[in-house]
Amino acid sequence: MVQALGFDTPPRLRHFIDGLEPLLDAGEQRIVERGSALLRELLAHDDWLPQSAALPDPRHYRQYLLYRDPAARFSVLSFVWGPGQSTPIHDHTVWGLVGLLRGAEVSQDYVRGADGTLAPDGPPLRLEAGAVAAVSPALGDIHQVFNAYDDRISIGIHVYGADIGAVDRSIFSADGGRKPFRSGYANIG
Ligand code: FE2
Repeated sequence: MVQALGFDTPPRLRHFIDGLEPLLDAGEQRIVERGSALLRELLAHDDWLPQSAALPDPRHYRQYLLYRDPAARFSVLSFVWGPGQSTPIHDHTVWGLVGLLRGAEVSQDYVRGADGTLAPDGPPLRLEAGAVAAVSPALGDIHQVFNAYDDRISIGIHVYGADIGAVDRSIFSADGGRKPFRSGYANIG
């Protein structure tokens, strides 16, 4: 599986994976707490991301699979923002750790009202390089994310509690309309 990505798992990423694996049965709270610390360690050095997983697309943000657990218990990906790019409002359905390797991103959480519409939940959160945030159905799972910069690339390293590219998820319009969504990966056919 790793060979199909076109690069070997970088040693710093392997160290992160080796630290995460023993936590996977410990429950979401422990995974998020300890996994966030491990991810911050990984983000402390910007010398390991393969160049082929750091390339922006002129039109859309891109997600590259970096590692997929053989049993699909988790996946690690690079999230590459071109200048000014953003996601639609979306959910994840599983726990996720969102870390910044380069640049910065801004995330706006949403909450669903009794009438089904979505409203912003709190102020936008800005993540700078080295910072980690968590998402999950328990923590808050609906948000929209932007590259904080309109003149440069930003890159996140994301970890999810599933093979996230294959998970059935949703994108939303502000009136609460929902469309099925599977994110896939830019480097996997
Ligand atoms: Fe997200």
